[in-house]
Amino acid sequence: MVFIFDLDGVIVFTDRFHYLAWKRIADEMGIYFDEKINNRLRGVSRMESLAIILERYTGKALSEQEKTELAEQKNAVYRSFLEKMTPSDVPGEVRDTLQKLRAGGCKLAIGSSSKNTKFILERVGLADFFDAVSDGTNISRSKPDPEVFLKAAEFLREKPEDCYVVEDAYAGIEAAKAGGMRAIGIGEAASCEKADIAISSFSELLGLIA
Ligand code: BG6
Ligand code: MG
Repeated sequence: MVFIFDLDGVIVFTDRFHYLAWKRIADEMGIYFDEKINNRLRGVSRMESLAIILERYTGKALSEQEKTELAEQKNAVYRSFLEKMTPSDVPGEVRDTLQKLRAGGCKLAIGSSSKNTKFILERVGLADFFDAVSDGTNISRSKPDPEVFLKAAEFLREKPEDCYVVEDAYAGIEAAKAGGMRAIGIGEAASCEKADIAISSFSELLGLIA
């Protein structure tokens, strides 16, 4: 079987870092921002995330240059959290399941909108683990567009219809379906109607290859 995993919220739990980094920027600018708004940022690119946060901005119009600087500031704060990550930030259940899927002959890839993907994989000791990594650096459209997953399938030389995508974001489930793949929802995305399969814990994936 072929699995393409989202990274943030599936393999590692960096959502909190995204939240804290955006929260700092929003607070500095006097923009209301909470965990509910943060949920809308899942799977969405950095600049699109900023656009969502700026929906509540009422100050003077910002130039594209100023928006780029805000996104860079957010990323610098986010990277300061990522720098502290270690292999222990991958839950034992996730690491164990990935190893068992690999031992069971599965092909495993990452499909993430994040431009920090390779840095995160290095920090947590998974830089050389996956058969392919498709991320924010090789796409021009982020989820719910299927590009990141279609690229992962292409890197693996597999047909989209043979791939199972594991996602925690609604935008990611939509991307998988738009790409003709099967979508497995976990976390928040387990309740997404478009998901073909819902799981409540990562190790349930082993049931699919049994
Ligand atoms: C996704 C996250 O994985 O990556 C989003 O779910 C984030 O919240 C996106 O905005 C882009 O991340 P980065 O690391 O390129 O800013
Ligand atoms: Mg995610």
